Amino acid sequence: MDILRFSAFWCGTILFSCFLLGQSEGTMLKIKRLCKFCDVRQTRCQGKGSCKVDCEITSICPNDSDICVTIWRKNEDNVTFDTICHNPEVKLHGLRLDDYNNSKCEMRERSGQGSDFYICSCSEDECNEHVFFNGNSLDSPVVAVVLVSLVPLFVMAVFVVTSFYFYRVYRQRRANSRRKKGAPLDSDAHAIMIDDEGSDSSSTHANNLNHNTELLPIALDALVGKGRFAEVYRAKLKQGSSVSEEQGFETVAVKIFPYEEYASWKNEKDIFSDADLRHENVLHFLTAEERKVQRQYWIITAYHGKGNLQDFLTHHVISWHDLWLLGGSLAQGVAHLHSDHTSCGRNKIPIAHRDIKSSNILVKSGLSCCLCDFGLALRLDSSLSVDELANSGQVGTARYMAPEVLESRINLENIESFKQADVYSMALVLWEITSRCSAIGEVKEYEPPFGNLREHPCVESMKDSVLRDRGRPEIPNTWTNHTGIQLICSSIQDCWDHDPEARLTAHCVSERFSEMEYLDKLSGRSNSEEKIPEEICVGDLK
Ligand code: ADE
Repeated sequence: MDILRFSAFWCGTILFSCFLLGQSEGTMLKIKRLCKFCDVRQTRCQGKGSCKVDCEITSICPNDSDICVTIWRKNEDNVTFDTICHNPEVKLHGLRLDDYNNSKCEMRERSGQGSDFYICSCSEDECNEHVFFNGNSLDSPVVAVVLVSLVPLFVMAVFVVTSFYFYRVYRQRRANSRRKKGAPLDSDAHAIMIDDEGSDSSSTHANNLNHNTELLPIALDALVGKGRFAEVYRAKLKQGSSVSEEQGFETVAVKIFPYEEYASWKNEKDIFSDADLRHENVLHFLTAEERKVQRQYWIITAYHGKGNLQDFLTHHVISWHDLWLLGGSLAQGVAHLHSDHTSCGRNKIPIAHRDIKSSNILVKSGLSCCLCDFGLALRLDSSLSVDELANSGQVGTARYMAPEVLESRINLENIESFKQADVYSMALVLWEITSRCSAIGEVKEYEPPFGNLREHPCVESMKDSVLRDRGRPEIPNTWTNHTGIQLICSSIQDCWDHDPEARLTAHCVSERFSEMEYLDKLSGRSNSEEKIPEEICVGDLK
C-alpha cells in the first residue's frame, strides 16, 4: 500500500510539473501580450542585480505571437532601457531571441553591438518591467520544475527518517518492557539467547549478524585466552548499542585477530554466519566486525566464565554425573556440527571442526560443553573446490591429530573422512574428561593425552607415538570397575580406532551417553565411586 501511495504521489508531482512547463511553453502565446513599450528611456540601472524599468506605458502587442523585450545599453555615460513588443520569429538587432519562453526577463550580455548591450525577452504580461542581471532570478520554468519536484521529495525523506526513528524507539521500549516482564522476544527480531544462567555467565540476546556498519560499543575487560591466531577478551557491551538497549548491560567474549590473520577470522565468521550452526553445544555467535582504526578483526560471542575445558579439568576433579554431562554434551555438539540436518529436520551443511581439543571447548555454567574456535573448520558442501580440498590435508594440533591426518593420507574424496578425524580428536578429549572423574578410582593430576611428550609435540613425534607404536592414552584396568566408566571407555576406544571407517560417529556416541542416563540417576549425582550392578545396565546398552 505504501509503495502504491508513494508512486501515485510522484506521478501527480511529475504531471503537475509538466503542466506548469506546458503552460509556460505553449498555449499562452496565443493570447495577445501586454508589454511595457516605451522604446528608449534613460535609466540609472547599472546592469547589476535586478532593475525596474521606468516606463509607464503598457501596450497590447499588435501580433498574437509577440513577446516582451527589454534592452539595456551603456554607451559612455549614456545608459538606456528599450522596452518593446517583438515577434520572436524575427531577429532583433541581428540577434535571435531564444529566451522568450521565460516568465521573467533575465538579461544576457550580447557582444558585437558597439556598446555594453544586454537583452532579455519573456512571455508574461508586463514581464519586461523588471529585469534581472547575473541570472539571479529563481523563476525559470526549469527551476520551478526542480523546486516542485525536490521539495516534496525532501519532505518525504524527512517524514520517512522521522517515522523510522520513532518506530525504532517504540520497538526498543517494547522490547525492554517485555524483557522486564520475562516475555520472549519477537521471533522476527532474530534474537539469540545464551542459555546459561547463574553469576558466572552472560545472558545475552542479540542479532547474530551485525548488518549495520556501526560497530558495537564495547569495553574490553581482561584477557581470558590466547590462541594461535587470536586473543580472547572478556568485555562489556556498553549501553547505547541496539543490543544493549534491548537486553541491558551484557558481558561478552571478544576474539581479536590482527590484520595478518584475516583468513582465520574470515573462515570463523563465515562458519558462524550459518544460522543452522546454532546449537546449545556450539558457542553462540553475536557478530563479527572489522576494527579499521586498530587494524583488527573481531568476533563477538557469548562469554562463559568457567573458561575452557582444559583449564577446568586442571583445577577440578569431577563426579560421574559431571562426566556424563560434559562428555554427552561434547558428543552432541560434534554430532550437530557433522550432521546434514538440523534438529527440526531442515537440510544443513555438515561442518568438520578439524581442531577439536580440550582448549577449544568451553564449559558452560550447567557443566555442559560448547565447541569454539572455528578458525580451521571446513564446510563439507559439494561446492568445495579442488584447491580447498587439496589445502585441507594436514591441519589442526599435532597432539590431537588422527593417524591418517598425521600421515597426510586422509581420503579427500569422501567428506566422512573429515568427520572421522574429528571423532578421533573427540575420543582424546573424552579420555581427558574421564581421567579427572572420581569414579575411575585414584585421580591423578590433569595431564593432556600423550602427556609424556613435550608441551607442543611436533607432527614427527606424534607419528612415532600414534603410527609407529600405535600408542593411545592409557586406560588402566582399575577405571573399568565402574560400569559407566567402562561403557565410556569402550566408546573412546571405538572412536580412536586406527581405521577411520571403524570409528563410531559422534551421533552414535551421543546416543550411547543418552542411554547411560539411568546409570547417572543410580549414581545419585554424587562424587560416589560406588559400582552399579552389572545386570542392570550392560545388556540394554548393546
Ligand atoms: N575463551 C575463549 N572463548 C571464550 C568465551 N567465549 N568465554 C570465555 N572464555 C573464552
